[in-house]
Amino acid sequence: MTAPQPLIAGNWKMNGLSASVAEAKAVAAGLGQTPARVAICPPSILIHRLADALKGTPVLVGGQDHHWDDAGAFTGDISAEMLADAGAKLAILGHSERRAGYRETDEVVAQKVSAALRAGLEPIVCVGETLEQRQAGDTLAVVTGQTRGSLPADLRGKAFAVAYEPVWAIGTGLTPTLEQIEEVHKAIRATLVEQFAEEGRKVPILYGGSVKPGNAAEILHAAEVGGALVGGASLKAEDFLGIIRAL
Ligand code: G3P
Repeated sequence: MTAPQPLIAGNWKMNGLSASVAEAKAVAAGLGQTPARVAICPPSILIHRLADALKGTPVLVGGQDHHWDDAGAFTGDISAEMLADAGAKLAILGHSERRAGYRETDEVVAQKVSAALRAGLEPIVCVGETLEQRQAGDTLAVVTGQTRGSLPADLRGKAFAVAYEPVWAIGTGLTPTLEQIEEVHKAIRATLVEQFAEEGRKVPILYGGSVKPGNAAEILHAAEVGGALVGGASLKAEDFLGIIRAL
């Protein structure tokens, strides 16, 4: 079976104003030939702007989170259908900043994944261990448990990605060794195959956590790494393009 097409997605988190549309345009302008699918996931208020600005380019736009319900009395929330209507094609779900800051459990993440599918969005489902869990030797159990718990059966036959983001590597400048990355990615692959049989081999498994132009090549070429989910280094077109070109 051929390897899944790599996906490199930028997660702008709570960064970006109207002026940041220019950075997204610069990514599209500088992209050139790449084997990867490239996406930018800005704050939801900028999705419409980016989708318009990137129309006709290969750069996709994604959301960072959405509600598990399709519509209703949820003040301040946003639905998957709203993201899709604004031009998003993907959605990051289960990010550790949502799991930790908003107490999102695997069950909630799985419900959000189902909502994404109902809206026609491609979910990027994040998993990853804390430093305490790694030090306790629980990394593989935590990550495979999150993978199993966050991926509902209705993903069968649908396009989605899993992102391995060790919590201790996010925004810290620290990254796991290549051996550690490969060990976890292989465990996630085995879990995907256990859950989705052969289809599980086609799912890109992204790495996220302090990916920069300087370390992207070795990470992106590691075994079972099918792309990257990039935070800080996706905010500047030059840095993000440096990562994409490392593939
Ligand atoms: O979702 C991407 C992210 O959590 C990694 O952030 O800033 O370490 O690249 P950063």
